[in-house]
Amino acid sequence: LARGTAEPDLRGRHVVVSAGGTREPLDPVRFLGNRSSGKQGYALARTAAARGARVTLLAANAGLPDPAGVDVVHVGTAVQLREAVLKAAADADAVVMAAAVADFRPAVYATGKIKKKDGHEPDPVALVRNPDILAEISADRARPGQVVVGFAAETDDVLANGRAKLARKGCDLLVVNEVGERKTFGSEQNEAVVLGADGSETPVPYGPKEALADTVWDLVLRRLG
Ligand code: CTP
Ligand code: CA
Repeated sequence: LARGTAEPDLRGRHVVVSAGGTREPLDPVRFLGNRSSGKQGYALARTAAARGARVTLLAANAGLPDPAGVDVVHVGTAVQLREAVLKAAADADAVVMAAAVADFRPAVYATGKIKKKDGHEPDPVALVRNPDILAEISADRARPGQVVVGFAAETDDVLANGRAKLARKGCDLLVVNEVGERKTFGSEQNEAVVLGADGSETPVPYGPKEALADTVWDLVLRRLG
């Protein structure tokens, strides 16, 4: 599907996309975060809207302008993102988890700024696990036939890691990026393989994030039937 000539093949569908990266506060001025730019998730939201879908974009700290014609819900933490995903997914045909969700959050939130103490080393930061949103919505679909898509950035044995993750999460599609220079974080371009729970493997050549987004929607549409 060429850009700029999008057919409204997602008309009548509601799709939910999460984008960006969650931030887990330590105190009022500090957080644990990650490098996700949000660009791939925003590209997914824009392309779905261009193809006629009703789009809910759950934006975690992306710092990007709200795309036109998209319902945007801004969230901060993984726990907030989970609430927003569960709410938006209730009537969604597809949910795409492009956000980088922090695996852990500080066990304790200090309501006042953490200060240095003379002559004392800092306390270690205790962490607890965040909920696994993708696994949860995959295991407990809000609607029959809802298509659930995850993203994974992997190194080393990228495809084997991706296959194992797809099975563990229970989603229908997993977009696997190889992490490397130039690729993925903050870049305008991306290269990926989309793995299907049906055993399919769709390579997407290095190119704009919109092209990968359109391939994801093509694969989602095929599964929606
Ligand atoms: N994800 C999620 N909730 C989490 C962690 C991840 O919904 N707590 C989603 C991400 O949005 C992404 C997919 O799961 O779509 C894969 O994320 P990834 O970090 O690769 O998976 P993990 O299971 O956390 O594996 P790893 O230990 O490799 O980080
Ligand atoms: Ca993770």
